[in-house]
Amino acid sequence: MRVRLDDLVVSALQQGSAVPAFTCYDFTTALAVVGAAEEAGRGAILLVSPSTAATANGLRLIAALRGLADGAGVPVAVQLDHASDLRVIADAVAAGADSVLVDGSSLDYEDNIALVRSARAALDVLASDGAGTGPEIVIEAELGGLAGDEDRAFGSDAAGNAPAAGTAGLTDSAQVEDFVARTGAQLLAVAVGNVHGKYKGEPELRWDVLQDIAVRTRVPLVLHGASGIPSAELVKAAAMNVGKVNFNTELRTGVLETLESRTAAHRTDGENLQGLLADWDAAAGTFAATALATLSR
Ligand code: 13P
Repeated sequence: MRVRLDDLVVSALQQGSAVPAFTCYDFTTALAVVGAAEEAGRGAILLVSPSTAATANGLRLIAALRGLADGAGVPVAVQLDHASDLRVIADAVAAGADSVLVDGSSLDYEDNIALVRSARAALDVLASDGAGTGPEIVIEAELGGLAGDEDRAFGSDAAGNAPAAGTAGLTDSAQVEDFVARTGAQLLAVAVGNVHGKYKGEPELRWDVLQDIAVRTRVPLVLHGASGIPSAELVKAAAMNVGKVNFNTELRTGVLETLESRTAAHRTDGENLQGLLADWDAAAGTFAATALATLSR
């Protein structure tokens, strides 16, 4: 069943768990994620990249994901990830996304707040049924900047080097209370040494900063850039009010490795595309199942 993102995350936190969120560029991956969530009896979040949502077919994918979430046997939310373009946000919500990460983290503090507020105003109009009583679109906002690229593993410099942890600004915990109050964000994405894509060396998460953030707000926190963070670290997240953990790179890597290693065999087996899709499903499903188990209590 499709549920509100904040409700899903808050109820997981009440049980000491966090909810994994997986970037889905395609329906096969989304089916695998939902299948793994059903198998585990846990909720999951389907993320759509803004680069996907900016295309006509991407909007059709969002509509399909919404249908998938509606019919799922466990709670599933569909979120537009990292969006800063109000047109893309409006299109994605009209297509079926019911939550958005309004990402003004590359802007200065006041502009970040202004972006989230203008998205809130636009979404409230869109989601209302004319009488202003329609469903509210849940907003996640981001304070502090993450290095790296959301769609490619090595995105931060022209030479293709992986970003160093902490190269973008850590979240300033002193701003948290004011930021949440003024944006009205229902979830808060934080920068605590996490990066998008592959880590250069070992990830060095600043748990001290995370703890300092956690005591300043009641809204659930979100950890982006979870690929590459050891599960022994990820299990600590929920205790610091991190109720949502985002994965993309590792999921893609697993699928691509599987496709690379299995394509020749399926060619030999009569150009067996269904066989290849089954391997894709298994790779994405195994990754999702592991993340679900890591974050669940
Ligand atoms: P990774 O690609 O590093 O897993 O980050 C995913 C993410 O944060 C999506 O928002």
